Amino acid sequence: MEGRGAILVTGGAGYVGSHVARALAKVNRDVVVLDDLSTGRREHLKWGRFVEGRVEDDGLVRKTCKEHGVTAVVHLAGRISVEESVRDPAGYFAANVEATRALARSVAAEGVRNFIFSSSAAVYGEPVVVPIPESHRTAPTSPYGESKIAAEHVLQSSGLVVAILRYFNAAGAACGDGIGERHDPETHLIPLAIEAAVSGKPLHLFGDDYQTPDGTCLRDYVHVEDLADAHVAALERLESSGGGGTWNLGGGNGASVREVTSAVERATKRPVPARIAPRRAGDSAVLVADVAKARRDLGFAPRKSSLDRIVSDAWAFRRSRGARP
Ligand code: UFG
Repeated sequence: MEGRGAILVTGGAGYVGSHVARALAKVNRDVVVLDDLSTGRREHLKWGRFVEGRVEDDGLVRKTCKEHGVTAVVHLAGRISVEESVRDPAGYFAANVEATRALARSVAAEGVRNFIFSSSAAVYGEPVVVPIPESHRTAPTSPYGESKIAAEHVLQSSGLVVAILRYFNAAGAACGDGIGERHDPETHLIPLAIEAAVSGKPLHLFGDDYQTPDGTCLRDYVHVEDLADAHVAALERLESSGGGGTWNLGGGNGASVREVTSAVERATKRPVPARIAPRRAGDSAVLVADVAKARRDLGFAPRKSSLDRIVSDAWAFRRSRGARP
């Protein structure tokens, strides 16, 4: 089916997915969320219609495309933990690669052409050039990263027109709308640092002996609303026949773990107790995106991605759930 029909958002009950559904709804797009609620949350389902189920379910996906007039897919459903992927590589390949292959087949059979895929900076592994351009060699250091690059390859030979978005560190929250980062278990730095400030229990700081200015890892935090807006821009590009491609999405600046904990202290006005712990396996010292291509092709211009804005929105989201641990 051609044109500007409904958008199928897989994983739309998840953290990034719910922000993408919200961003699409805000520009008056018809949204259909497909999520099996294995990790997504029912309370994130505030935009569009909801279909409960799995992306591998050919019958369900095809029926959903037909019933709702789906013309494009934003595929965010998948598993996201680097650490868990080391313990369960087969599970990660099934959920991130085989499921993507099945979904692409099902939607193509219904005449869908435009497909946006949620990939990750994890495909780069240890960078040799920083900031990292999309042309950087890919050499993942985890099954998670391997699964993302394999899924990219599957899509590139699918016959669909594909926008691959490689996220750096999604963070922050659309706190006014009651959605934000809340994984179970949580492994990400900003929510954990906020929890340490609230509970007084120390954050484990994974390594302070990296070759970086303060010895802690540098990451590129991008506000999840800026990230979500880039999906809308990618969709508009595909729909106006601008062509597919691969784009990095980050704030374009590096922040160290210590800079993040200081920002959390400023926002919460509480200390973040930290205990230096051994390096976490698979962590790169520096992961910072070159976002020039996204700026040029998608008009990507992060507005909310300063570290203080990200952290204060994450803190507002945490407070909205009660500031006690
Ligand atoms: N960190 C700590 N203590 C914690 C948690 C994290 O010191 O309790 C540090 C990590 O070592 C890292 C930084 O904080 O240096 C950020 O860690 P996150 O777990 O928040 O994020 P990652 O950079 O590890 O992960 C992100 C995405 C992944 C993606 C990866 C690419 O969330 O999906 O980037 O490598 F795979």
